[in-house]
Amino acid sequence: MSAILEVSGVTKRFGGLVAVNDVSFSLAAGEIAGILGPNGAGKTTLYNLLTGFIPADEGSIVFQGRQLRGVSPHRIVRMGISRTFQLCRPFVGMSVLENVKVGGLAQPAPPEGRDAHAHRLIAQVGLSGKEDMPAELMAYGDQRRLEIARALAASPKLLLLDEPFAGLGSSEIAELSALIRQIHADTGLTVLLIEHKLHEFMKLVNRVIALDFGELIADDVPERIVTHPRVVEAYIGGNVPETEAA
Ligand SMILES: Nc1ncnc2c1ncn2[C@@H]1O[C@H](COP(=O)(O)OP(=O)(O)O)[C@@H](O)[C@H]1O
Ligand SMILES: [Mg+2]
Repeated sequence: MSAILEVSGVTKRFGGLVAVNDVSFSLAAGEIAGILGPNGAGKTTLYNLLTGFIPADEGSIVFQGRQLRGVSPHRIVRMGISRTFQLCRPFVGMSVLENVKVGGLAQPAPPEGRDAHAHRLIAQVGLSGKEDMPAELMAYGDQRRLEIARALAASPKLLLLDEPFAGLGSSEIAELSALIRQIHADTGLTVLLIEHKLHEFMKLVNRVIALDFGELIADDVPERIVTHPRVVEAYIGGNVPETEAA
């Protein structure tokens, strides 16, 4: 498989804090990889860099052969990277259908039409029948599904999920995990997933990139990550991933 994303030497500083420090990794087209790391490790900042929300101070981010540094977020979405957020951010006052249609505005109208496209994605994430509900009134688990449908509406090649299991109970996590696996299998999308809920996470991903204090400390298959000395060390001292809040 060829690389869809190549991150080389990317650094982001906030004043004296180096939130992402000389990080390099690549993603093969079609893989489902995970980002692991304690709170404050720089995971969300990395997503903000990949999506153009914030500019990198150093390094290069190449997506499908094109440099992303300096490219605006809306152009990056159009190029094929979309994301969900750590805290659900539905468009308040809009229905489920409208939320998904807004996600689709990043691209030209598909042959089936914007409405049909949105309905199909809503069905794909298991929200059929809830099209007219105000998004913010839905149960949190459904909001997580909506976020995924809205991200898919932009027809991404690379889907970035930021703690999709946060705030969910264990049965909801198992269902959402199955949904992500299904979407990956059906679409062949490249998926990158940030999570702390290690049990489902390790079953879902084929590879884990571990960050600590902004640095990449390991990049390996899940079986070896769980015993990797630097990963184990990063989680000692209260940072127990299974119980971490957000
Ligand atoms: N916009 C910002 N301004 C200043 N500091 C930030 C900003 N965003 C993140 N940080 C800091 O960068 C570090 C990494 O944050 P973040 O990427 O959100 O971590 P994670 O998602 O791994 O929990 C933290 O110390 C955080 O406080
Ligand atoms: Mg985060």
